[in-house]
This record gives sequence, structure tokens and C-alpha cells, in this order.
Amino acid sequence: MAEMIFLTGGTGFLGRYLVPALIARGYRLRALVRPSSASNCKGLEESGAELIEGDLRSPGGFAPALGGVRTVIHLAAIVEGGRRELLETNWRGTARLVQLARAAGVERFIYTSSLGAGPNPRFPYLYSVWLAEEELRKSGLSYVIFRPSILVGPGDPFTGSLMRMAQRWPVMILPESRARFQPLWVGDMVKCILQALEAEHLWSRAIALGGPEVLTLEEITRLILSELGLAKPIVHLPRRPLRFLFRSLRRAGLRLPYAEGHFIKGDNLAGPGAVEAACGFRPRALAEALKLELREERALWYP
Ligand SMILES: NC(=O)c1ccc[n+]([C@@H]2O[C@H](COP(=O)([O-])OP(=O)(O)OC[C@H]3O[C@@H](n4cnc5c(N)ncnc54)[C@H](OP(=O)(O)O)[C@@H]3O)[C@@H](O)[C@H]2O)c1
Repeated sequence: MAEMIFLTGGTGFLGRYLVPALIARGYRLRALVRPSSASNCKGLEESGAELIEGDLRSPGGFAPALGGVRTVIHLAAIVEGGRRELLETNWRGTARLVQLARAAGVERFIYTSSLGAGPNPRFPYLYSVWLAEEELRKSGLSYVIFRPSILVGPGDPFTGSLMRMAQRWPVMILPESRARFQPLWVGDMVKCILQALEAEHLWSRAIALGGPEVLTLEEITRLILSELGLAKPIVHLPRRPLRFLFRSLRRAGLRLPYAEGHFIKGDNLAGPGAVEAACGFRPRALAEALKLELREERALWYP
């Protein structure tokens, strides 16, 4: 009988890539979906996954769906919101899921945390996922924790928002920040998760993952402009005016180019050769990932 996996976050960016890959490998899926997410579930339904309605913030209702499950893959999280919301979903939501998994006899738990996760409460998102990691470390379950850098691919909010800005704004507005990133192609992240399901050596570890290049936001922006064949000035704004701009846009009901605070923190680096060392393959370069992204999305950008 094929292994049954309980998946959270199947409607999200990473989940949309992971689900078909799991099904293609012959896994059976039970996917937790929020009642409010019905319109995002088409892909999941078509994949043949069993949909389980529920919410990490009130998990009692979906406990029976963990019966007969060997592995939980937990992708669901929020990256934006107030401190309380972040802690409630990312930390307490994970803690409850871990408890339910243990009670149901689940053996293994794969969790996508984030690069930079750590015990500093000044950064609520990174703190919330670090607390979630701690729940796993003390759970007694077999676990793999992945800490990816920023994930890129068609539909990702990071390069997607920069592309939108490049298409629609007269200038590229970036925060005054020298923070560096190691963007990781979403398909490579999926490969790492598939490996975790099949390779013993990844278990009981927190594994940082990043792509092959270390780039500042400005370098990423220049690459995007070049792939789009556009030339736009790049303006760097200090934190305060950037915040002001974001708030004004939001008040005017306009979509923000990217998440406030997203790029303002420090470096987001996994170290050289992180994916090679953990999973034994070389991840895709950003320019290559962007080419794929543009091929899939060009129809949207150039109607
Ligand atoms: N994308 C990146 O660049 C990146 C980088 C580092 C780490 N990560 C981590 O990787 C994971 C997947 O990221 P992603 O980009 O796929 O995120 P995403 O696109 O924002 O998707 C988040 C998923 O979590 C679900 N979710 C949120 N709150 C929930 C709740 N209370 N109960 C149940 N489900 C809930 C969402 O469901 P709905 O459809 O109902 O909203 C959605 O399926 C996350 O843990 C994220 O922190 C991502």
C-alpha cells in the first residue's frame, strides 16, 4: 500500500509544486485546507488528494485525518501579520499539529522553516518558526527541518512582485539594504523534500538551503530587468520613507510591490554549496529560473 502523507500548505506557492511531485512518486495525500481557501483547491482536487477541511489555529476538527498517516509534511505558515497572529499560526499551530501527530502514531515530520529562524523575539516571523522548530526537536518524532532562503519560480511573490514593479512602475524602488540572498528554485526545494522522504541521512537535522548565487536585492532586480529587456532607474529608499510609501499605497487600496520588512533584515544566506552538501545536486541558477518563470508568465505580463 502506498504511503499516506498528511500535508499542510498544499494550496500555497511551494505546495502547488510539491503536490504533483508527490503524487507522481506514488504517495497518497491528505491535504489540510482552510474552508476559506476553496477557490485555491482546484489543483489539489485534480491531483486526487483527499481534502481535509481545517485550520491550524483550531485543529481539533481534523485530528481523525492523521490516522494511518506515516509522514506529515508541514508547509503551512504565514509570513506577514502581527506578532500575535504569527505566533498563533506558525508556532502554536505547529505545536498542536505535532501533538496530534504524536497522538495518532505518525512517525515522521518534515517542516519548512526559514533561513534566519532564531530565538530573537525582535523578528516575530523568524522567532515564530524557530519556536515551531523547537516543538519538533523536543517531540520525539523523526524530523527534518528545512530552512530555505527565498524561493523563486512562477507564482512566487518575491520575483513576481519585482517583475510587476518592473512592468508597471517608472522606477524600481528598493529598500536601502545590503542584505544578500541565495534564491532557490522552487523545483529544487521540491527535490529536497522528496529526498527527505527517501534518504535517511537528512533526518534529525535542520538544513539550510540556498541557490548557487549570493545576490543583493539590487543585483536580483538588475537580473530581472535584464531578463525582461527593460531599463529602469533603481531608487533606494531608507526604511522610514519606504514604510510611509507602503502605508500610503495600502491606504489607497493599491497592491504593494513587495512585503514590508521583507528585504530589510540582514543576510539570508545558507552558505556555499548548501544543497549540494545536503542533497547531492547543484540547484538551478537564478537567471535560469527567471527564464522559466518568464516563459510561463509572459502571457500574463504581455497580454
Ligand atoms: N516562499 C518562500 O520564499 C519561502 C522562503 C523560506 C521559507 N518558506 C516557508 O515555506 C513554507 C511554504 O511557503 P509558501 O511560499 O508556499 O507559503 P504561501 O504561499 O504563503 O502558502 C502558505 C500556505 O499555508 C496555508 N495556511 C496559512 N495559514 C493557515 C492556517 N491557519 N491553517 C491552515 N493552513 C494555513 C495557506 O493556506 P490558504 O490557501 O488557506 O491561505 C497556504 O496553503 C512556509 O512555511 C514558509 O514560511 C517560504
